[in-house]
Amino acid sequence: MCGIVGYSGPQNPKDVIMGGLKSLEYRGYDSAGVAILHKGEFKRVRAEGKLSILQEKLINEPFDGHLGIGHTRWATHGAPVERNAHPHTVKGVSIVHNGIIENYLELREELARDAKARGQVIRFESETDTELVAHLIAYQLEITKGLLESVLKILPRLNGAFSILVVSKDHPDEMIAFKNGPPLIIGQAKGAVVVASDVQAILPHTNKVVYIDDFEIAHVKGESFRIYNSKGEPIVKPVVEIDWSADRVEKEGYPHFMLKEIFEQPRAVARALAPHIDVAKQTVSLSGTGITDAQWARVERVLIVACGTSNYAGMVGKYLIEIMARVPVETDIASEFRYRQPVMGADTLAIVISQSGETADTLAVLRQLKTLGVPSLSVCNVKNSTIDREADGHLYMNSGTEIGVASTKAFTSTIALMNVLALQIAKAKGRLSPEDEARYVNALLAAPAQMETVLACDKFFAAAADVLKNYKGFLYMGRGVSYPLALEGALKLKELAYMHAEGYAAGEMKHGPLALIDKRMAVVMLAPSDNLYEKTLSNLEEAKARGGVIIALGTVGNERLRGISQSYLTLPRAEWNVNPLLEAVPLQLLAYHVASALGHDVDQPRNLAKSVTVE
Ligand code: M6R
Repeated sequence: MCGIVGYSGPQNPKDVIMGGLKSLEYRGYDSAGVAILHKGEFKRVRAEGKLSILQEKLINEPFDGHLGIGHTRWATHGAPVERNAHPHTVKGVSIVHNGIIENYLELREELARDAKARGQVIRFESETDTELVAHLIAYQLEITKGLLESVLKILPRLNGAFSILVVSKDHPDEMIAFKNGPPLIIGQAKGAVVVASDVQAILPHTNKVVYIDDFEIAHVKGESFRIYNSKGEPIVKPVVEIDWSADRVEKEGYPHFMLKEIFEQPRAVARALAPHIDVAKQTVSLSGTGITDAQWARVERVLIVACGTSNYAGMVGKYLIEIMARVPVETDIASEFRYRQPVMGADTLAIVISQSGETADTLAVLRQLKTLGVPSLSVCNVKNSTIDREADGHLYMNSGTEIGVASTKAFTSTIALMNVLALQIAKAKGRLSPEDEARYVNALLAAPAQMETVLACDKFFAAAADVLKNYKGFLYMGRGVSYPLALEGALKLKELAYMHAEGYAAGEMKHGPLALIDKRMAVVMLAPSDNLYEKTLSNLEEAKARGGVIIALGTVGNERLRGISQSYLTLPRAEWNVNPLLEAVPLQLLAYHVASALGHDVDQPRNLAKSVTVE
């Protein structure tokens, strides 16, 4: 949530900062701003709304200095209006902030009291928690005169999650970066320093970066920087060489990133599987992930924790692992798990899934598990993200950068990896025959081409969206591995089309939600020809009998299903473990086209952000 960029160097900071913010816009997009040195002052320009509005405002703004900071916001405290946009400036001190200062009200009262005792009045211009930090630093600067010293003084007072950049007109060649929680990365380019929330904003300038850890402070001076611990002692940190160049973030002819990413899925799934499958031998292997063969064999219980779409991919994993490996699996959403005093044993393998690798709740769970001595395996898309760096073992989605806020290709890549995990555990436990392994592997290898054929649904939903958008709501139903897909289908529609949608286990309908069904309710039924097909069909009949408008996804050649549905979309015949990969595609296309027909911004849905670094 929120993207921050700082630059000190010979280029025009406006260009570097705006370029960086563009690649961070996925983190928040309700307002944006910069503070850049000009004529000895930090000139601040802010705008409500998307970054493009700030861009417009900046066209004719000259800056003669070589230091600046910028921010793209996802509002936590205060409405998304210009006066709450960052940077916040107090007495020449400008700051940008990602996160939440939990004790800001208490600190604000304290500051007001101190000021009153000195015969001063503190005025706040915004409703943000951030402005308070600018006041605290400005106040300290009057005493200590040093920017680093001021930050060292206030840092122990701040509670919450934050990453912050600070500049001051009295220190025109310095910038301070510090954090607790959300990521902050600093890159040393030729004659320049770039600091940002995500390595994407740094990569156009350098691939040599340092990951700032919690309560460390980076002090940028001119073209170089030093890192200090919270006591103000200089420390030496490893320089990480990022082995990938800035991903291409172009739409490549697609109207939206989301549609491009939906169409990229066959390739993304193939890339996720490739490192773990021996095509010639028709086997899987998870060597080189940091979990040893002995550890795989010792797994008696699996815990999968994640948020949102990643959680639904994890739920698919539960079915796969339990059925293939006969090991009990518990899944939970991270925000619940972290506060429910879970009972864990050392024989548990914890799998934490996060596309971004930065989700605050998921990260908190990972840290909690470490203190309980539970071995962990992360499944991330962003290499070197905090979750990736802190877990014991690592698996990568290899999806390539996902720009659309609604997750698509990371979801299907994760499902592919859940398959590999299930097979690996089954094998390590001696519960997978070579024949079954070969059968599952071949099914997975065929999946990308099968997904390719399902992409043809695009035309159907593009045409149907004008009708679908008028339904009062959508109910998604499925059983077994298709149940998490029903949840994911509903989430996609909610986040993109802002329509009422619910995902349900099909067998649960008659226990309540059936009451919702009438002729204005669309029922999306996931009914592939698997062992639960007949049961699902009965549930479909029940929904139809109540007047629901049925959109069914079924296996090709299933004429019975075609007969009872208003719309019938076919999936290629596949093993049960592959069906979720095929079902995901039409569900994403449905949400995409309905949202587009409603005129919504599908890449940046309202109120959301791609990387949720606050609780
Ligand atoms: O980066 P993560 O996978 O940890 O993110 C988890 C959720 O915030 C994310 O999946 C969210 O639900 C997406 N908006 C789904 O499209």
